Amino acid sequence: METATTQIEVRSSKTTQFYDDVTAGLKQTPKRLNSKYFYDANGDKLFQDLMNCEEYYPTKCELEIFSEKTAEICNAIIGDGDAFDLIELGAGDAMKSTYLLKYLLDKKADFTYLPIDISANVISYLNITLPVTLAGLQITGLNGEYFEMLEKAASISNKRKVVMFLGSNIGNMPVNEADGFCRALRNHLSEGDMLLVGFDLKKNPKTILAAYNDKGGITKRFNLNLLERINRELNGNFDLKQFDHYPTYDPEIGACKSYLVSLADQKVTINNMEAVHFLKDEVIYMEISQKFTVEQTDQMAVNNSFKPLNRFFDNKEWFIDVIWVAK
Ligand code: AVI
Repeated sequence: METATTQIEVRSSKTTQFYDDVTAGLKQTPKRLNSKYFYDANGDKLFQDLMNCEEYYPTKCELEIFSEKTAEICNAIIGDGDAFDLIELGAGDAMKSTYLLKYLLDKKADFTYLPIDISANVISYLNITLPVTLAGLQITGLNGEYFEMLEKAASISNKRKVVMFLGSNIGNMPVNEADGFCRALRNHLSEGDMLLVGFDLKKNPKTILAAYNDKGGITKRFNLNLLERINRELNGNFDLKQFDHYPTYDPEIGACKSYLVSLADQKVTINNMEAVHFLKDEVIYMEISQKFTVEQTDQMAVNNSFKPLNRFFDNKEWFIDVIWVAK
């Protein structure tokens, strides 16, 4: 059992990492903050609101794929029918995967569901609720970093692995980093294991830009929330009214990027130590949401010793979930 002391140590080392990343990022040119820090309790709530807003289409498209192509996806995963571990990276509320879990249980597939999430709350929620809503489900929730937990999954079972990385989370890495991430995943898998990945596709640039510039201003609040988090957790003094949200989309390379723009010459301090100077109109680079072509997804598979096996599109062909097999 984890003692109170270790919990305090863990919490303070996480805060130190957050502090180090924020101060290092704000020293770069252009200044930058890592979008993985968007997701505190308030950021989670804002992201939920975003997923429900009219302009933000990726979640709706992927949900449509999982609800309408359940049988095809499951049959591809089941393959020859041997037992497998279904591992989900960043499982969240597991809403999309629940379609698969239900179908796999109905088909009496021999599998264990291993959701991995950095949030202990998410994992204990899934461990408690899913076996109630999905009778007969074998679940082992793993709380921690993706690759550490993948190693743990391999140490507790030698069954075939099917790893899911949904929601276009892969787009929140620059393309070369996403490629490296797939390589690292491949190195944690064995021949015949599978990867199911969700990619947001290139489409009309106006549709993409609107999704990151919603009229209700949720995306703006989602970005500003990170400044608020720095104020609260790292004793910062950002004046949120002095920053504006600026989303961009480059249709040639498929990079959708969000910035916060300083509306004045200003000085911000963090923890009464680090003074950060902003010029009027200077930007903080907040997030990339990369969009792909189908060919690029195939190329990413091939680059990293996977063979593309299946493609599942929503009706508008705005989003794709692909299944790759480790070679
Ligand atoms: C979580 N991720 C895939 C979202 C995206 O589309 O890049 C995060 C997000 N940022 C602004 N809106 C949504």
